[in-house]
Amino acid sequence: MPNNNVNKVVLDEDGIPKEWYNILPDLPVPLPPPINPATREPVKPQDLERVFAKELIRQEVSQERWIPIPEEVREVYRIWRPTPLYRARRLEQYLKTPARIYYKFEGVSPPGSHKPNTAVAQAYYNMKEGIERLTTETGAGQWGSSLAFATMLFGLKCTVYMVRASYNQKPYRAILMRSWGAEIYPSPSDKTNFGRSLYQKDPNHPGSLGIAISEALEDAVTHDNTRYSLGSVLNHVLMHQTVQGLEAKRQLEMLDEYPDIVAGCVGGGSSFSGLFWPFYYDVYVSKKAPKKTKFVATEPTACPTMTKGIYTYDFGDTAKMTPLLPMYTLGSDFIPAPIHAGGLRYHGDAPTLCLLLKKGYIEPHAYNQVEVFQAATIFARTEGIIPAPEPSHTIKYVIDEARRCKQTGEEKVILFNLCGHGYFDLQAYLDFFEGKLQPFDYPEEAIRRSIERLKSELPWIDQLPYLKNL
Ligand SMILES: Cc1ncc(COP(=O)(O)O)c(C=O)c1O
Repeated sequence: MPNNNVNKVVLDEDGIPKEWYNILPDLPVPLPPPINPATREPVKPQDLERVFAKELIRQEVSQERWIPIPEEVREVYRIWRPTPLYRARRLEQYLKTPARIYYKFEGVSPPGSHKPNTAVAQAYYNMKEGIERLTTETGAGQWGSSLAFATMLFGLKCTVYMVRASYNQKPYRAILMRSWGAEIYPSPSDKTNFGRSLYQKDPNHPGSLGIAISEALEDAVTHDNTRYSLGSVLNHVLMHQTVQGLEAKRQLEMLDEYPDIVAGCVGGGSSFSGLFWPFYYDVYVSKKAPKKTKFVATEPTACPTMTKGIYTYDFGDTAKMTPLLPMYTLGSDFIPAPIHAGGLRYHGDAPTLCLLLKKGYIEPHAYNQVEVFQAATIFARTEGIIPAPEPSHTIKYVIDEARRCKQTGEEKVILFNLCGHGYFDLQAYLDFFEGKLQPFDYPEEAIRRSIERLKSELPWIDQLPYLKNL
């Protein structure tokens, strides 16, 4: 019988996991490989060495299920981990639902989100390999501030290209990055060839994550002792995030609970994967889960990668510098509407997540920003914490589901990750209160045209054998 009096479960520092969980050996079919567009062949791990630390490349392709977390990384995790698991008791009471709602709160990290779980690991491995500077892109600023924080702790320099729309909407995130010693440029910038090509035509270009990734990559590969760091999408990044799900499992165990539903928002897929992979392991690998848990992913209707995107090979960035990745995509030339969930505006998603979606393991839902902020406000007025716009998409789903449970009388156990707080997103709340936010559905026609452009340029994509029969 679950313990019904608990508001939160806090583990002591020994509860920080000692290993990350790697889903690669446990996928239902092998992950289709990234493709080098020049050779049309799978990328060789050594091709990536100019871009990423060697250990991260090793992790990217590793078939080991459990990867030890270095003690130096756990030592830094101790600053804010283990994170609390809350029971959303007041939200439940407000909704009068028989569902039991739990959330893993990652907003307690110094940068305010789940992103340092991987930033710290990435900065550590780069430092060990003698790298002096990391470059990266950031949308909402959550990732950039996390890398600024992590590089500071390991004595590396950090250069961040921040999507201009977010840079203008969220000036305080840029100040946070500067406080931790990073240099930061609104993207497109005049610092890189690719950025200049756009900036000179339009100095107010709103930018996109795809463009900022191109700039950060160009900066890394044109400077010595510099590597690039990515905050989502890649296998090793998602794996570092599994500390969330591994801790949450232990915390729920202490309450004698197991989730019927695990839900999270998806920008590139790292926070959601970090939470649900360990439960996927229970359900489909060890088969020890007491329930057939459902995995639910949420996204904006303004960037509907999972619900409307096309499953194909596409570039990870706008300048087409990255390998081709097998994913649901809106097209790498996607320029998002400047909605407030900056972290959910990427045109693609993690290949592992896309494969699991394709194979029916994940249920996706899209919401517009008005309904998302309505849900966020209900959460703030019941639970107290102001949620970031990104996880508020999941809160919208959770509230709807809890209301369904009220109608059916089902006592479902719902777990989601509140992967960031919204204290740097107050302008978004103000715009919502003043009625300035608009719902927006990204048109399917634009997605189709973008993928047609890609395929007229690279007609051989459809001949690749890797996505056939999936
Ligand atoms: C708070 C928050 N949640 C979610 C995301 C989306 O990224 P991911 O899907 O990799 O977790 C971001 C990205 O910046 C974020 O800042």
